[in-house]
Amino acid sequence: METRVLAPDKEGIIAAADVIRRRGTVAFPTETVYGLGADAFSARAVARVFAAKERPRFDPIIVHVASPEDVQTLWTSVPPLARTLMERFWPGPLTLVLPRRRRVPGIVTAGLPTVAVRMPDHPVALALIRAAERPVAAPSANRFGRLSPTHHDAVVDQLGGRIDAIVAGGATPVGIESTVVSLVEDPPVVLRPGGAPLEALREVVPGLRMGAPAGSAASPGALPRHYVPVTPLLLLERGPAPDEGEPLDRLACGFLAFREEWSGFGRVEVLSPRGDLVEAGARLFAALDRLDRAGLAAIVAEPVPEEGLGVAVMDRLRRAASGRAHVGPEEVWRVR
Ligand code: TXA
Ligand code: MG
Repeated sequence: METRVLAPDKEGIIAAADVIRRRGTVAFPTETVYGLGADAFSARAVARVFAAKERPRFDPIIVHVASPEDVQTLWTSVPPLARTLMERFWPGPLTLVLPRRRRVPGIVTAGLPTVAVRMPDHPVALALIRAAERPVAAPSANRFGRLSPTHHDAVVDQLGGRIDAIVAGGATPVGIESTVVSLVEDPPVVLRPGGAPLEALREVVPGLRMGAPAGSAASPGALPRHYVPVTPLLLLERGPAPDEGEPLDRLACGFLAFREEWSGFGRVEVLSPRGDLVEAGARLFAALDRLDRAGLAAIVAEPVPEEGLGVAVMDRLRRAASGRAHVGPEEVWRVR
């Protein structure tokens, strides 16, 4: 299949919307990451999304709308708390889960009685959904289990030849996926930390609970090893070198740093020299991708503070990690 690369202008968006209306698949930028979109009311179109991504059918998909009113066609009712959250956080990186109308095909929700919906804060995404004149179901535009794309080049890389079109909108500003909150439970539950910080959500929902930790299957996106680079990723724990563990040459390893350069490594990526967690979130996937392509023996990642966007960054790093590391004067020890 030939994948058309479209400009993010009026003409390109009209062409992309036409693909959606014809039950095709289009990757498009949102403020978080690129999504792979299809007509949310067409099971056949959504099946093409699963096929292109090689995504297992048990993993449900987020439906994207261009206006808060559009949720009426997806949810059976809109409780007051949902309205309050939509007013405060939409358009933006917050996905809300509520009972679905029967009109929403089961393949979108992986058979669940609920559907996840969000209104993205990106002019191209909003224009595309409006021009398509229907909600757009879109998971992140990566192959299943791989890093989410924060630039159209990464989409071309992972899905080129497997989808109908890509709207080339450059880098995505937030860079980390949306926060997913289930309003089905009381108090509401965070199924995935993301671009909307928990502190801001708690101002509206003081009782908000953290959902199943990475490792449980309550939200399939919360499966432990989900965002995986090909190169082994080791999460750094400071402290003395362990007795056992496999020594790795520092020069053969990459280092993903939060704010300071580290010496001795083959390649270093600094997420935010000024220590800004929003900037760190925006750069995370692209930095991991660059390290992943550098032919390194391992990537060592330094933890970031778990506040604001740091909660989402640590969530992704823990899921991407295949072990822990200790860093000594000359060597890196791979632990576990
Ligand atoms: O920022 C984002 O959320 C991006 C952009 C494209 O909007 N999308 C995204 O989609 O990250 P995806 O498919 O990679 O992740 C969707 C997450 C998964 O963790 C999935 O399990 C959860 O949302 N989800 C979707 N529908 C659900 C439902 N009905 N109940 C519970 N969790 C659901
Ligand atoms: Mg994803």
